[in-house]
Amino acid sequence: MNKSTFILKGNICYTETRDQLTVMDQGYLVCHEGISRGVYPVVPEKYRDLPVTDYHDLLIVPGMSDLHVHAPQYPFRGLGMDLELLDWLNTHTFPEESRYADPEYAEKAYRIFTEDLRKSATTRAAVFATIHIPATKVLMEQLDASELKTYVGKVNMDRNCTDTLRERDAEAALESTSEWLRETAGKYPNVRPILTPRFAPTCSGALLEGLGALQREYGLPVQSHLSENLSEINWVQELFPWSSCYGNVYEHYGLFGGEAKTVMAHCVHSSDREVKLMKNSGVYVAHCPQSNINLSSGIAPVRRYLDEGIPVGLGTDMAGGANMSMFRCIVDAIGVSKLYWRLVDQGSKPLSMEEAFYLATKGGGAFFGKVGSFEEGYEVDALVLDDSGMRSTKELSTRDRLERYLYLAEEYGRLAGKYVAGKKIL
Ligand code: GUN
Ligand code: FE
Repeated sequence: MNKSTFILKGNICYTETRDQLTVMDQGYLVCHEGISRGVYPVVPEKYRDLPVTDYHDLLIVPGMSDLHVHAPQYPFRGLGMDLELLDWLNTHTFPEESRYADPEYAEKAYRIFTEDLRKSATTRAAVFATIHIPATKVLMEQLDASELKTYVGKVNMDRNCTDTLRERDAEAALESTSEWLRETAGKYPNVRPILTPRFAPTCSGALLEGLGALQREYGLPVQSHLSENLSEINWVQELFPWSSCYGNVYEHYGLFGGEAKTVMAHCVHSSDREVKLMKNSGVYVAHCPQSNINLSSGIAPVRRYLDEGIPVGLGTDMAGGANMSMFRCIVDAIGVSKLYWRLVDQGSKPLSMEEAFYLATKGGGAFFGKVGSFEEGYEVDALVLDDSGMRSTKELSTRDRLERYLYLAEEYGRLAGKYVAGKKIL
């Protein structure tokens, strides 16, 4: 029998809709060739012969999608947290990313990133690399071997950055991106390419136009940054004076949803016009709460995006966020939503645990397909959570154990198993 056909038994939690957690204590999750056949209180007759892995009293939850993470920034995580975006990029980010011109450095630095990501709660990720082809190949090779499922983007930037990171001009950047696409095509089964203009300020109109053409030629998805910081937004208006909003710049060049599956990180200060554009284009928002805090960017109005029906997932934005843990990301999303409610908009009620858990699983998972739930037809990405180190005299329901796990994961949690698309990797 196929190795990715099995049953997992334990206390199973997942979301079907964003505000409701489905819990089945001592349930059976049936996985057939990597795809869920549903969750049952007793094993249905037709699945009786499948091997069962019994996780006893542990929790089993869907794997998590980090919808926005910068692999090359991992070496300076937890450092340089006293600047806002544009100064932070110039002071910390661009100098570190310049080092990836050396593939040997990339090999070492990406090894640490990839090993840590593999051990984390993340099963899927949309990853920024740097402008460098050899280093980006190293990252793709390592991530492929990790058996996580990822999108990786070679970054494009041809202006407004250090010489060491600036591609000569639009033509050179586009040629390099085409070469990267050609040379990596079909080589890494677990890694798919994603077009990655860093953000509008570091991309000329000619570069964005060429990336739009590549998007249409290859049908590629797109990732970038949008309306993260007020100085950034003003700068985009100066650089693209004809634009009606920041998002309109990407839209103008065919890099904003529609045929191009797109995820934009942050969207902290999006105007009404921009929100409407995001909604009409089906653009995903990668909400990165810890980065919003660390770079003093502000708080993304996630409740509004959810109410508008805009697809939302969570991102660590490593190293704008210092922690790779998606549990921490969930807790930060809940936390900043409370501050937003209290300090910014009393009509914008905070995220519940269920909602934030949904964003990290099914919300962000949607960018990768039928991912992030245990409903029938979903790819089985699963985490087995051991909370036995969380000592307490309290009797807890399974739902409460999950909530506590999210908050205490780093101190007392243990990842007892990890499955990606039906394959056990931990
Ligand atoms: N905007 C452009 N580049 C970056 C980056 O590396 N991190 C964040 N948070 N925002 C950006
Ligand atoms: Fe980012």
